[in-house]
Amino acid sequence: MPGTSEERAQKYLGLGHSEAENHAKTQLELYEKRVQQTSSVTNVISEFFKTNLIGFAWHYLRSRFGARHPYRAYPRNDDTGIYPLQSSVAAREEISIALLSDWASDTAESDAVANLVARHVPDYTVHMGDIYFVGTPREVEENFTAPYASWYYGASGSLALSGNHEMYSNGNAFFRHLLPAMYAQVGEVRKTQQAGFFCLENDYWRVIGIDTGYTSVGRPFLEILSPPDCHLRKEQVAWLRDVAKLGDPRDTRGVVFLSHHPYMSAFREEYVKPGEQLQKLMGDAQRPVIWFWGHDHRLVAYRFDRNGKGPQAYGRCIGHGGASGGGEAAGCRRAV
Ligand SMILES: [Fe+2]
Repeated sequence: MPGTSEERAQKYLGLGHSEAENHAKTQLELYEKRVQQTSSVTNVISEFFKTNLIGFAWHYLRSRFGARHPYRAYPRNDDTGIYPLQSSVAAREEISIALLSDWASDTAESDAVANLVARHVPDYTVHMGDIYFVGTPREVEENFTAPYASWYYGASGSLALSGNHEMYSNGNAFFRHLLPAMYAQVGEVRKTQQAGFFCLENDYWRVIGIDTGYTSVGRPFLEILSPPDCHLRKEQVAWLRDVAKLGDPRDTRGVVFLSHHPYMSAFREEYVKPGEQLQKLMGDAQRPVIWFWGHDHRLVAYRFDRNGKGPQAYGRCIGHGGASGGGEAAGCRRAV
C-alpha cells in the first residue's frame, strides 16, 4: 500500500464520519497508488484528474443514488444463523472470542492488532463493522481475503457485522465479497455466513451479533426529514423473535449483544432504537445483558445502565482496532 505506515495511520486519526469525506479518502488511496507507477509531472496531474476527481464523483454519486444491496435474512439454505459455540482444541473447554471493531483499515496498526489476535489463537474472531474507507471490494480484499491480508480467521468461526462504512458502498462488497469468506464451524461442517446477524450459543451463553449497519446510512434528501436510526429491520426482528426466540422466559442463559453502533455514548450519537426493539422482544423482565459495540473509536467502559427503553446493560465500546488514537475516556456522563 502507498505511503509509510505512519502516513497511512494519520488518515485514521480524527477520522470523519461523513460519507463524502470517506469516498474522497478511498479515491486518494487509489490515486496515490497509481502515482507511484508514474514518473512525469504531466502524468501526475492527469492521474489526479482521472483517478481522483472523476473517480470520487462517480464513486460518491453511485453510492448516494444507487440501489442498496438487498437485505439478507435467515433461514437461507436451511441455515438458521444459530451456531453452537465449539472449542477448536479438543482438550479445552473454555471458548475464546476475539472482538475487533473498526479494524479493517489496512494499516501497520491493523496488522499489529491482527498479529496480537493470532498469538492468542482464539476460537472465534468477529469483525464488528467498518471497512475503510467505504467498504469497496478492493478494501475487503486488502483486509480480509487477499493472501497477504492480515485478518485472523478463528478455527471455530469468523463472522462479520456491517458498520456504516460498508453501507457507504451500499453494502455490495459486504454481502458479495466479505460474507462468503466468513463462517461458523458446526462439527466438521463449515457454514458460510449468510446474513449480517447471527447467534453463537452454548448451555450458558448466547452471543448475538445484531445488524445496525444496514439502516445507518440514509438516502439523499430523505435523511434530512428522517435521519437514520440504525433500527433493526423487520426481517431481523422476526428472526430474533421466531428463530432465536429472544423472548423465551425459560431461557435464562446470559446474553451478549454485539453491534457496530453504540447503544449509549458519552461522546457522539447514540442509537436507542435497536435497544428498544431488543427490550420489546425480551419482554417485560428486566434482564441484564452485556453489550459490546464500536464506531466511537474509543475504548470506554460504561456503568451498568439502560438507555431509553432499552435493556439494562454492561456496555463496552471496544475502540478502533485499526489505528492509534483511541482509548480516551475519562470524566464522562456514563463512562467509568
Ligand atoms: Fe462506524
